[in-house]
Amino acid sequence: MTEKDLIPSAYTNQVDKGSFEWSAPSNIALVKYWGKKANQIPANPSISFTLNNCKTITKLAYERKEDTNGISFDLLFEGQPKESFRPKIEKFFERVAGYLPFLEEYHFTIDTHNTFPHSSGIASSASGMAALAMNLMSLERELNPAMTDEHFYKKASFLARLGSGSACRSINGSVVVWGLHAEVEGSSDLFGVPFTGDVHEVFRNYKDTILLVDKGEKQVSSTVGHDLMHGHPYAERRFAQAHDNLSAIKKALTEGDVSAFIGIVESEALTLHAMMMTSMPYFILMKPNTLEIINHIWKFRQDTGIPVCFTLDAGANVHVLYPESVAVEVLGFINAELLVYCQNNQYICDEVGTGALSLY
Ligand code: DP6
Repeated sequence: MTEKDLIPSAYTNQVDKGSFEWSAPSNIALVKYWGKKANQIPANPSISFTLNNCKTITKLAYERKEDTNGISFDLLFEGQPKESFRPKIEKFFERVAGYLPFLEEYHFTIDTHNTFPHSSGIASSASGMAALAMNLMSLERELNPAMTDEHFYKKASFLARLGSGSACRSINGSVVVWGLHAEVEGSSDLFGVPFTGDVHEVFRNYKDTILLVDKGEKQVSSTVGHDLMHGHPYAERRFAQAHDNLSAIKKALTEGDVSAFIGIVESEALTLHAMMMTSMPYFILMKPNTLEIINHIWKFRQDTGIPVCFTLDAGANVHVLYPESVAVEVLGFINAELLVYCQNNQYICDEVGTGALSLY
């Protein structure tokens, strides 16, 4: 499939007014996307667990308007107008306009909220862009009822990617690959695809407890961080490593090899942050408590043999990953030893989930 296949031919149906509602989850990358080319094309393939509880819920109301000069929308966050979110949505609409020719024909009201606490330091761009993309595809399907499910989901992921790269992995569950990889059939730089290999039982209901270390605004956005991979001294080697790690984690996921999984996931998290520290200008997003938590996890794993590990996204929070079978022990450990490193003792319990859900 190429970008051209995602530009619709004439629509067969007409609708004037209505609304849709979708929830879309966050996702946590196991092999990280860090570095991109023009038009949101990733520099390397990535793979993620789709989450279940951290979600954005978005209602999109549409009404045909008289004029067709420009995109018009109202934006509500938690029921209130939210001016600060508008530029991101405007940019998204501009990027997707060529693929959704109906956009200028309607006035939209976007009403959105998250299930996770406000300013928890959890990025809502992945779930937010995914939920909006699903709604827009619902409208396109009204205009073209012959659309297949396959096209619907692929194009939703494609649109979400244009909003925020990692958002393309928030459409489907439960393990998603984004970016062309020699060993993943159907993989594409244009959209995320569900991992088609067997996922061993141990990984099917994997837990992700997100420790909220720092809820403040990040000093360096992901978009700026990606940009710093241009001309980065280790970039090419890093991109090649991501291909190798994706092959290795694919095998671990299929075989249920938790210890190989842990080695890849933790190395990926630290490599991501190493890329930040070796960018020019360089920066550090981890906080002292991030390192405290990592060291405690390593000690606990060594002392008990319980297969718990961590990963990080572009921030200070720590995602603690573990099989469901050891959930009681790990939650006991988190409460006893890690809570003191969390801001206001806060953490969020999540787990592998199934992807976006329609609520209409
Ligand atoms: C560290 O998807 O937030 O979480 O495409 O610029 O919106 P943009 O970046 P974004 O980057 C996410 C980076 C990451 C790793 C990952 O999710 O793979």
